[in-house]
Amino acid sequence: MFGELEYPDVDIFYEGKLIKSRKGQTVAAALLANNVKKLGVSRKLNQSRGVYCNDGRCHSCYVTINGEEHIRACSTLIESGMEIMSCRNDPNVRSS
Ligand code: FES
Repeated sequence: MFGELEYPDVDIFYEGKLIKSRKGQTVAAALLANNVKKLGVSRKLNQSRGVYCNDGRCHSCYVTINGEEHIRACSTLIESGMEIMSCRNDPNVRSS
C-alpha cells in the first residue's frame, strides 16, 4: 500500500576500512550501525569519547572527515567516499 522506502547503500571509509551505510544517515548513525562506538579520547583524562547527546550539543563525537578536524559526527550527513578518522591524534590530549 505504501510501497517500500529505499535508501541506497553508500560507501564510506572509517580508519581506511570500507563500511556500508545508507543514504540519509548521519556519520554517527553509520558508525554505530557498524559497531564503532569509540570516536576519540578526552583531552584531560584520556577517557573514551563517542556519541552522547546525538544532538550537536556536547562535542563528544568529534571526528576528522576528509582531513577536516573536529566535525560533529551526529550532525553531519554521510556522503559517498567520505573518509572518516577518529579524533585520536589531538595534540592537546595529555599523555599519561
Ligand atoms: S553526540 Fe553530542 S555533539 Fe554529537
